[in-house]
Amino acid sequence: MKVQDAINQRHSIRQFTDKPVEKKMITKIIELAQRAPSWVNSQPWQVYCAMGNTLQKIKNTYHQQDLAGKTGNSDLPVMSREKWAPQAQANMSQWRHGIVHHFANFDEAHEKMTNASNTLYDSSVILYITIPKASPDWSIFDAGLFAENIMLAATAEGLGTIPTYNSVRFPALLHQILAVPEDERFIVGISLGYPADTTINSYHSERRPVNEILHFN
Ligand SMILES: Cc1cc2nc3c(=O)[nH]c(=O)nc-3n(C[C@H](O)[C@H](O)[C@H](O)COP(=O)(O)O)c2cc1C
Repeated sequence: MKVQDAINQRHSIRQFTDKPVEKKMITKIIELAQRAPSWVNSQPWQVYCAMGNTLQKIKNTYHQQDLAGKTGNSDLPVMSREKWAPQAQANMSQWRHGIVHHFANFDEAHEKMTNASNTLYDSSVILYITIPKASPDWSIFDAGLFAENIMLAATAEGLGTIPTYNSVRFPALLHQILAVPEDERFIVGISLGYPADTTINSYHSERRPVNEILHFN
């Protein structure tokens, strides 16, 4: 697959089939993603691949937290919507409008999105990316490049992905379940698997016109 096609085809998948992803395939994807550039080739990332009983345990534990009304406390802080720059707020509003209108009505959109979120998208794999706590902000940037490489490599293998805050909302629990050392912090979880043929997955989000974000001087 051409790079351009992988970039265009990648979009967030919020419902997966139960078809398992082979460990060999995951290894191939991660090895390719390791080609990402990083500050002085520091390669700050680790990947913890949650699948099978381990992933089920994470899903069950998250469900219990949700039932208890816990909202989460990700290692990367979340910023309230009103504090974001106006254009970013407008983009986020447009995305919300777009996805709601992708469904028959608001109630259906709300139900499908909530269910997807509550079940951690029913994926058979979540790839958790961590970096050491002793890292500069540049390592977060590096982890982002690595994450995009993972998603593009997965697309080229016919797999779907979604990077989520949702999956890293409870880092203390993830440290326990995945046996991740306390001196690492969770950046993002990438759900990985074979996309289900459903309405939620056929939504392709929009982007700003390029002339609004590209500035030649
Ligand atoms: C860091 C990050 C965290 C995200 N967290 C979530 C999430 O918790 N739940 C969700 O449904 N989508 C999440 N997304 C997916 C975005 O909503 C999605 O990337 C964006 O709307 C653009 O759509 P696309 O990925 O289909 O191109 C996240 C994306 C990123 C990059």
